[in-house]
Amino acid sequence: MLVTYESMTGNVRRFIKKLEKQTQIKTKEITEDLRVNEPFIHITYTIKFGEVPEKTQKFIHKNKELLYGVCSSGNRNWGSYYAAAADKLSQHYQVPVLLKFELSGSDSDLDKLIQEVKFIDSNQSSTKVGSVKQ
Ligand SMILES: Cc1cc2nc3c(=O)[nH]c(=O)nc-3n(C[C@H](O)[C@H](O)[C@H](O)COP(=O)(O)O)c2cc1C
Repeated sequence: MLVTYESMTGNVRRFIKKLEKQTQIKTKEITEDLRVNEPFIHITYTIKFGEVPEKTQKFIHKNKELLYGVCSSGNRNWGSYYAAAADKLSQHYQVPVLLKFELSGSDSDLDKLIQEVKFIDSNQSSTKVGSVKQ
C-alpha cells in the first residue's frame, strides 16, 4: 500500500517523516500530474473552510480507481470544518476516512494509520471498506 500526501506548511510532511522512520511503508508526495499504478491511500490537509486542496483534487481525480482511503490533517479551531477535506473526498469517491489528525499528528495518530494500512493490505483483494470508525 502506497501512502501519497500533500503538504503546504509542513505538518503532513512531518507526519509522513515519522511514518517513514517507523515503518517500511512507501510514501510519495504528489504533483497534479502524478499517476500511481498501485493501491494507495492519500493524506491531505484541509483549507478554506473545509475544502480539499486543488492539487489533491486533481491528483485524486486522475487516480481514483486505486484509492483505498483518505486522511486529513486539520486544526480543531476550525470547528465543524475540522479536517473536512477527508469527509469530502470520502463522500465523493466512496472510500473510508481512515484518520483525521491535528497538525503533524500524535503518536497514537501514527499508530492508528499504521493499523489501518495493515488492515487494508490484508483485505485489499476483497474490499475497499476501511475498519475503524472515527
Ligand atoms: C488559510 C488556512 C485555512 C485552513 N482551513 C482549515 C479548515 O477549514 N479546517 C481545518 O481543519 N484546518 C484548516 N487549516 C489548518 C490546516 O489544515 C492545518 O494547519 C494542516 O496541518 C496544514 O497541513 P500542512 O502543514 O501539511 O500544509 C487551515 C489553515 C490555513 C493556513
